[in-house]
Amino acid sequence: MLEKLQQRWKVNGVNLILIIFTFAVGGSLCGITGRKIMELTSIEKGIIWILAYILLITLLWPLCVILISIPLGQFSFFKKYIHKIWAKITGNKTADIPLIAVFASGAGSNAQKIIDYFNINNTAKIELVVCNKEGAGVLDIAKKYTIDTLLIEKDKFFNTDLYIRELQKRGIRFIVLAGFLWKVPSSLINAYPNRIVNIHPALLPKYGGKGMYGNRVHEAVIAAGDKESGITIHYVDELYDHGNIIFQASCKIDEKDTPGSLAQKIHLLEHQHYSTVIDNILKMQNRS
Ligand code: GAR
Repeated sequence: MLEKLQQRWKVNGVNLILIIFTFAVGGSLCGITGRKIMELTSIEKGIIWILAYILLITLLWPLCVILISIPLGQFSFFKKYIHKIWAKITGNKTADIPLIAVFASGAGSNAQKIIDYFNINNTAKIELVVCNKEGAGVLDIAKKYTIDTLLIEKDKFFNTDLYIRELQKRGIRFIVLAGFLWKVPSSLINAYPNRIVNIHPALLPKYGGKGMYGNRVHEAVIAAGDKESGITIHYVDELYDHGNIIFQASCKIDEKDTPGSLAQKIHLLEHQHYSTVIDNILKMQNRS
C-alpha cells in the first residue's frame, strides 16, 4: 500500500513518511482550531453547529496542511496536491498534466520544438530545463519561454541525489534528453524507471556509444559510405545510446551529402518526430 502511494505521488520513502505526517498533524491542527473557533461563536450544539463545523474545517484543512508542510519541507508537494484537488472541483484539466524536465547540453533546437509542441497541445508541460553547460543555447530558449533552468555540476550529478530530490520536489514525472551529453547515473534511472528517453542522430545500434554525438556521428556515417541514416528514440539505461528502442525514422544519403548537410536532414527528422513520440509514450504510460 505504501509502495503504491509512493508510485502514485512519485516521491521517495522519506518524503512519503513526511507527507503522511503532514496530513496527520495538519488534520489534527485543523480539528483543534475548528473547535476553538466554534467555541467563540454563540451557536448551540446541534445540527447547525455540526454543519458550520464541517464547513469551517473544510476551509481550514488546506490552510493547516500547507502550514505544517512548510517546516516539514513538503510545501511544493502540498501546493500541487491542493492545486490538483481544486482542478478536479473546477474541471480544469491542465493542472493534472505530466511535468517534463528536458536535459540538454547544446543549442536546444529539439528542446524548443518540444516546448512549442506541448505549449500548443497541453498534454504535458515542460517544467524545467536541465543543462550541464554554462552559456548553452538551450538556456536562452528556456529564458525566452520563462521556463526554470537548473545548471548542474558534474560531481553533484554523479555522486549525490541532490538533483533527483530537486526533480521530485518539482513534481517532474518524465525526463527527455535532447542533446544531453553526459551519461545518466543509475540513481536517476532507478528514480525514473522507463521515464527517461533520449534521441540519437543515427540508426542505433550503429554509430552509438561514448563520444558519438552530434557531428561526430554524421562524420562516421558519411565516412562509412552508408546510403541511409536516421534517428533513434530510446529509453535510457546505464549504457550510452543503449536502452530499448521506441522509434526510428530514416533518410537517404546522397553522394553529395556532407556531415553538415546530413545533420540538417537528421534535425528535420528529429523535429518532426520527437515531440509526438514523447506525447504517445506519456499517453500510453498514463493508461497503464
Ligand atoms: C541532436 O541531433 C541529438 O540527436 C544529438 O544532439 C543534437 C542536439 O541538437 N544527441 C546526441 O548526439 C546524443 N548522443 P539540439 O541541441 O539542436 O537539439
